[in-house]
Amino acid sequence: MKTVFTHIKNLIQVEKTPRKWVAGTDMALLPVIENAYLVVDNGLIQDFGLMSAMPDFSADDSLLEVDVTGRMILPAFCDSHTHLVYAGSREIEYVDKIKGLSYEEIARRGGGILNSSKRLEQASEEELYYDAVERIREIVSFGTGAVEIKSGYGLSTQNELKTLRVIKKLKETMPVEIKATFLGAHAVPMEYKGRQSEYVDLIINEMIPQVASEKLADYVDVFCDKGFFTVDETERILLAAKKYGLRGKIHANELDYSGGIQVGVKHNALSVDHLEYVGDEEIQALLGSETMPTILPGAAFFLNMPYSPVRKMMKAGLPLALASDFNPGSSPSGNMKFIMSLGCINYRMTPEEVINATTINSAYAMGIQETHGSICRGKVANLYITKEIPTYHYLPYAYTSQLIDRVMLNGEFV
Ligand code: NIG
Ligand code: FE
Repeated sequence: MKTVFTHIKNLIQVEKTPRKWVAGTDMALLPVIENAYLVVDNGLIQDFGLMSAMPDFSADDSLLEVDVTGRMILPAFCDSHTHLVYAGSREIEYVDKIKGLSYEEIARRGGGILNSSKRLEQASEEELYYDAVERIREIVSFGTGAVEIKSGYGLSTQNELKTLRVIKKLKETMPVEIKATFLGAHAVPMEYKGRQSEYVDLIINEMIPQVASEKLADYVDVFCDKGFFTVDETERILLAAKKYGLRGKIHANELDYSGGIQVGVKHNALSVDHLEYVGDEEIQALLGSETMPTILPGAAFFLNMPYSPVRKMMKAGLPLALASDFNPGSSPSGNMKFIMSLGCINYRMTPEEVINATTINSAYAMGIQETHGSICRGKVANLYITKEIPTYHYLPYAYTSQLIDRVMLNGEFV
């Protein structure tokens, strides 16, 4: 079906040819066409421009015209870091946190990731799939059109594969673009306590080969941080993944200057994520690399963590992506519009910067920048139409209002 949107108040994040990413001071620039039209055909963006230059479509009977006077169109969010396949919820730990326990203390008591792991073990593939579908429906209604989903609550070969098969089924059945990441190295399971290196051996010798042979993952992740996996272990896992053509996406520097950023860059990881602890050395390592620094404002907000020095990173010339980290422990929300608001409020990013960070740059961070993340001819028509709003700054400003009126994925309204 062919659709033409007319009288678009602002058509946002337009580009002639797909850019790789936007970095440094360019992050403050947002290409916008005022009073625009947009043609979607066969699931793809076919054409766009000024209303005054719109071709005459009156002879085309098959065309659906949608007049969006007063409203704006943006590319759908790309959420490049989530753990949205999980069983149950962890509001009990939330209350523990309110009472003063730290994330690490909760993890040491067998809570945290291990708690979700126990629940996931008991859940069937069908239950996991059903719950994940509900979560995906919710984030789509919030404007997300592409999402990366990690395993990592399985922590055994069988349960990691179970999670990844659920993600595969989601890929096959949901209209959002999905990338799968194998995160066996999320935590050390109880039965390997004190034998962490043996668990890493299991990941390398059993899990990665099976994940690769069933083609269940696009990327491999390691939680490289204080109290979790070391730089050496991360390196071993990244080298094992490389043999199967799998690139890394690393959980790094959330709890300390862990060396996770450097080891990620050294092995050409697609992204390094969290980054609460970033100094000059980490910035130098990232400059000139092909690795997207990704900030997860929801986790830092929810856990009351220190905020990443994003202004310093952008001033140094780095690109930045923002993602939700949607998971039951540290960020039980996949609302990317709220993530934009947190970027503005807590990190002092401008609306232009947060829009770049949640579209084009987060598309790069999940390897889909050639097909998603902007309004560009030939890219997939994943976009959302806002309600009537005065300016695009209003989107992160009105931080709890549902301002997304309709979402189109692959050229179809959902
Ligand atoms: O990205 N940092 C590591 N992993 C998750 C937390 C997962 C959990 O607590 O369940 C995160 O924040
Ligand atoms: Fe995470």
